[in-house]
Amino acid sequence: MNIGIFDSGVGGLTVASALRRRLPAETLTYLGDTARLPYGTKSPETVVRYALQAADYLAAGGIKMLVVACNTASAHALPALVARHPGLPVLGVVEAGAAAAARASASGRIVVAATEGTCRSGRFPATITALRPTAEVSQVACPLLVAVAEEGLGDSPIAEAMARSYLADRFAGHGAADCLVLGCTHFPLLVPAIRRVIGPRPVLVDCAEAVAEQAAALLAERGLARQGGAGGLALIATDSPERFRRMAARLFPGLGSNLAVTLADL
Ligand code: DGL
Repeated sequence: MNIGIFDSGVGGLTVASALRRRLPAETLTYLGDTARLPYGTKSPETVVRYALQAADYLAAGGIKMLVVACNTASAHALPALVARHPGLPVLGVVEAGAAAAARASASGRIVVAATEGTCRSGRFPATITALRPTAEVSQVACPLLVAVAEEGLGDSPIAEAMARSYLADRFAGHGAADCLVLGCTHFPLLVPAIRRVIGPRPVLVDCAEAVAEQAAALLAERGLARQGGAGGLALIATDSPERFRRMAARLFPGLGSNLAVTLADL
């Protein structure tokens, strides 16, 4: 059976790429809810409804694990997803990224860059301080960075200017943070621009890498991992599949050149 993954758009392909690298024998089914992007500015109720529809669609195709490759959906909808699909392992990027940040920061001064919705939920500070009570966690909502990443402009002067205005002050002067959580799955696409702003020293926590590690551990623990063979990736979009295919091929060359995208109506 496949691993089901979803996000609002191409951002969650950072998670699919990390899963492909970590678990090359697995077959992944990725759903990008392009008809309803962005999730980050929507109300929690709407995000929960969208997340349940995406999960129901993937579960109907038969999956052995669900990876919520969207921080906004993880922040708002994880309990609802677990309740709707009892018995299905469900992993969220917020939990994985928060645990990685709690371990990675030396000073405990941690900045979370995320969508408005993820910041409003307070899930990152709550999860990080539950694991590391002395951590000082601050959040920055960076909604424009989602659009920049979707446009394929992650390494552009525009991306750098936006990253500077959102993040520069948190990593300068006395009491500067030493850890930045990329708390939106679109943001790993902006790492070169972000690095030019914050410099080489702060630790960057990529929730995609963190959740791929958790997925590998959980599959092994439950005896669900595929042994050997070449895995695969099936892509589904809820709007403009050709545009989605083009973006995926351009932003994620490692996923292969002959990507096909199916259109789905949730
Ligand atoms: N990539 C998503 C996240 O991690 C959502 C971005 C959006 O749709 O606003 O939150």
